[in-house]
Amino acid sequence: MVDKAQAMARIEGAARVIEEACGGAQVGIILGSGLGDYAQALQEGRALPYGEIPGFPVSTVPGHAGKWHTGTLHGKRVAMMQGRFHYYEGYPLWDVTLPVRVMKLLGVQTLIVTNAAGGVNLSFAPGDLMLITDSINLAANNPLIGPNLDAFGPRFPDVSRAYDPKLQQLALSSAEALGITLRQGIYAWLTGPSFETPAEIRMLRGLGADAVGMSTVPEVIVARHSGMRVLGLSCITNMAAGILDQPLNHEEVMETGERVKHTFRALLDGVVAGLD
Ligand code: HPA
Repeated sequence: MVDKAQAMARIEGAARVIEEACGGAQVGIILGSGLGDYAQALQEGRALPYGEIPGFPVSTVPGHAGKWHTGTLHGKRVAMMQGRFHYYEGYPLWDVTLPVRVMKLLGVQTLIVTNAAGGVNLSFAPGDLMLITDSINLAANNPLIGPNLDAFGPRFPDVSRAYDPKLQQLALSSAEALGITLRQGIYAWLTGPSFETPAEIRMLRGLGADAVGMSTVPEVIVARHSGMRVLGLSCITNMAAGILDQPLNHEEVMETGERVKHTFRALLDGVVAGLD
């Protein structure tokens, strides 16, 4: 998306249609693999399939339904994305992150990003939940490459506190109150769609990564560019390549996501309830 005016028109066009169909929101949640049902928690929820939003890509991954939802949760207006876009689907990062900019125009100030991730830290186990404390971009690309959209933020945004310290505290205290063990760690983003090799996972561990996945980081960069507060939560659905003597597959990712979705949802709910 090279032309700034066209880029703005596309974001504004999508935001207008969503606002008319579903209304605005203060909080945005991107639901990762297996978490899509959480949209049903919204009161007076209204939904719009991505196919009816002009300019929106269409999600192609099993487990990602492709619907925008907005409603009320714990007294807050919350927008949820049931299904996100991934770089590996072939979309430019500009398209992958378009919904985050749409959220900004709809009034979202706090973005909660969730995902399924592979455990790189050897003390993790499948089913663990992890608070993202920082991330590493290993995709050799950045969603902000291209003309800067000054209406959203500066050319060179700071990402030194990308994951909001206060929201991290809120997630930790919510987890404790609910008796949920919440791990903490650094999420490394690689493009996928092939899972990593064992050598890559050893490299990631050496770099300080605790989890690895194929999403989230571009969305967080774009959210921070526009000044949103961000909270990132991962579900460790499998141990990353080479740690266990077994091949990796998407079914395991989905099965673990399904197994812990109630805990994950309870944590999300606790966080939303505690937002000011
Ligand atoms: N690697 C990358 N992405 C993932 C993984 C993994 O092991 N598990 C879930 N998403």
